[in-house]
Amino acid sequence: VDSGVIDFGMGFPIYELDPDPAPVLTEIARDPRRHELLQYPRPGGPMDQRAAGSRWCAELGVKVAPEDLFVTLGALHASHLWLLSVLKRGATLLTGELTYRMVVSAAEQLGIQVRGVPMDEQGILPDALEREARAAGARGLYIMPTNQNPTAGILSRSRRRALVKVVQECRLQVLEDDIHGPFHPSPRPTPLRELCPDQVTYVASLSKTLAGGLRVAFAVTPANRRPAFRSALLASLYSAPPLNAEIASRWIQDGTAFDTVAAKRKEADHRTGLARERLGSLVPDLRTGAYYCWMQLPESWTAMRFTMEAQRREVAVMPAEPFYVGEGEPPEAVRLSLGAVTREQIDRGLDVLEEMLRHPASAQNHVV
Ligand SMILES: Cc1ncc(COP(=O)(O)O)c(C=O)c1O
Repeated sequence: VDSGVIDFGMGFPIYELDPDPAPVLTEIARDPRRHELLQYPRPGGPMDQRAAGSRWCAELGVKVAPEDLFVTLGALHASHLWLLSVLKRGATLLTGELTYRMVVSAAEQLGIQVRGVPMDEQGILPDALEREARAAGARGLYIMPTNQNPTAGILSRSRRRALVKVVQECRLQVLEDDIHGPFHPSPRPTPLRELCPDQVTYVASLSKTLAGGLRVAFAVTPANRRPAFRSALLASLYSAPPLNAEIASRWIQDGTAFDTVAAKRKEADHRTGLARERLGSLVPDLRTGAYYCWMQLPESWTAMRFTMEAQRREVAVMPAEPFYVGEGEPPEAVRLSLGAVTREQIDRGLDVLEEMLRHPASAQNHVV
């Protein structure tokens, strides 16, 4: 995005509330065991860091012993390891028809075919999942049950149970990506992992909650998948850098991580509330801590034209198209990501979008 452009396009988190690294870096610098952080770690991570991961997962509703958890280099790395350890070249991976693009790209680069499953505002529809799984003979499912990216949808309890039933009947291995889940206020919906531990690999990344540049996530696989996941980890980078994970672990153990999530949740609700106030019912009133929202456009706009016109007025938004892996055409909708912008930019950006929605015809006359 050019400078001067207000960026509602990229899904970056609320950076301004990331914790200050200075105190924890000083603590680490004074720790007599600091040299160990520069040595090759145990594959999967040092045990005290895995204990921090276990505490983080417990907070999200997933019980795991530290020795059964892997520290990975972010959720995307964990997704690669899952794809490598579960699906073979030529296999089919199912996902919601609107989904996080980078996992689709990773799968395609590994020769895995990706098929989109129809969704409603909550997310994947169980009947459609069953139909697609049987039609494609699919082996895997990638899913974000809480604060789905890009729609911010949340699967209800009964939907989760219905999906798990299909997963069990069709013997699908599942990658549950809970990167945006921590923002959901308590009580959080039960992760699929707890409903179906034998088939679900759970990934909890700290990128959105604490610091994307640390590249730290925790992965919990079914017991019988652990050796294959471990082999993929060893062959990819041996083990995640312990220095980065040490920062994250200390933030979890001293409570900074939980305070940061609470602050970001509050700010995200405020920001999406502003969008709702200004753009009305086009933006769903979710208030679930997600810092992005999905806006279904009125008939007067296509997503592509809306995106181009907003760009001309120096506001970047993300159309549905890059997220879409379904049959047919993507919906006429855009994602507004309100994380890495200031409140003042949000105000100005929403002014622009509101004006475009109020005067759709005049705004579309700028074709030369
Ligand atoms: C749903 C989802 N999964 C994974 C990622 C990437 O996570 P990480 O930075 O931990 O690799 C993102 C980042 O935007 C995301 O939105």
